Amino acid sequence: MSATREMYPVQWQTDRVILIDQTKIPGEFGTVEILTSQDMAIAIKTMIVRGAPAIGVAAAFGLCLGAQEIQTVDRQEFLVQLEAIAVTLRATRPTAVNLFWAIDRMMQAAQSAPGDVANLRTILQQTAQQISDDDLATCKAIGDHGVTVLPSSPQKLRLLTHCNAGGLATAGYGTALGVVRSAWRDGRLERVYADETRPRLQGAKLTAWECVQEQIPVTVIADSMAAHCMQQGMIDAVVVGADRIAANGDAANKIGTYSVALVAKAHNIPFFVAAPLSTIDFKIKSGREIPIEERDPAEIFNIGHVRICPEGAEFYNPAFDVTPASLIAGIITEFGVFPPDQIEAELAHRAEGGKR
Ligand code: MRU
Repeated sequence: MSATREMYPVQWQTDRVILIDQTKIPGEFGTVEILTSQDMAIAIKTMIVRGAPAIGVAAAFGLCLGAQEIQTVDRQEFLVQLEAIAVTLRATRPTAVNLFWAIDRMMQAAQSAPGDVANLRTILQQTAQQISDDDLATCKAIGDHGVTVLPSSPQKLRLLTHCNAGGLATAGYGTALGVVRSAWRDGRLERVYADETRPRLQGAKLTAWECVQEQIPVTVIADSMAAHCMQQGMIDAVVVGADRIAANGDAANKIGTYSVALVAKAHNIPFFVAAPLSTIDFKIKSGREIPIEERDPAEIFNIGHVRICPEGAEFYNPAFDVTPASLIAGIITEFGVFPPDQIEAELAHRAEGGKR
């Protein structure tokens, strides 16, 4: 399979899910076939599929696989067994709220659908496809709204991003990289600076790869170089994605994002968070309540398969950090760009009346 212009990391095909294997990029571009809900849970946990919206879409299709596995024709029993599968999928990764949002939406669709088990399977399938299709359209809207708030300058812009919030991390097109893509399309972008994003290197591997596919000029820097690049006047704005945004606008994203935001503030460089409504968790008031995933310490003491740290040292590997709303110039959503302290007033009613 060759790389396509738009990335579709999660696709349903007849009775299975095809995932782009993100653990292999850029060395290899390949796909894996996921046939069971259990294998989907493993794929999310091991980050074959990763990125907040993409794991939401993957979990939704994981429930479709689960619906195929359930043998009963009794509707109530079907829903009980589906909930057990939902529990397994919810337990994969704790921080990205899109995972829980998508699973809740699927369960609500099944519970409120009329008819027999065959109809519930059909409804689940349609809902998962809708979640995927909506996310793609949402990312394109985020990209286009994002361009409108980038600094206005006769010069083309140099944007810094952290981690990978691209087509690979969504149903396609990306959130932060959606803004990059739209800026490139409009002739407003000179280059992207991609933080390498230790420990898993999503910036160096995935963001750089996506940009290279589309011939968007990209410079990879080590995470420790962002401050220097800003001090040297090399960065006009920062755009990152998010895994969960609290009602007060505090935003959790890949570890290291908070340092980038602090440094951007110190240099008067606008720092934007690009995310769909499904990433905003209106149930929690502030970032202090966002659960932060801790991952295997091997991600720290190994680079690839080579151990770089001595035996006897201890390790700490939080996968995300929280950037306070006060450091965020705007949250770029599919409905427009809002100051972080206004997202609750602007968007909570849409979440309730619409998709939640
Ligand atoms: O651990 P990952 O690779 O799933 O983390 C991904 C990120 O932090 C992304 O920036 C975030 O999910 C937004 S994706 C549009």
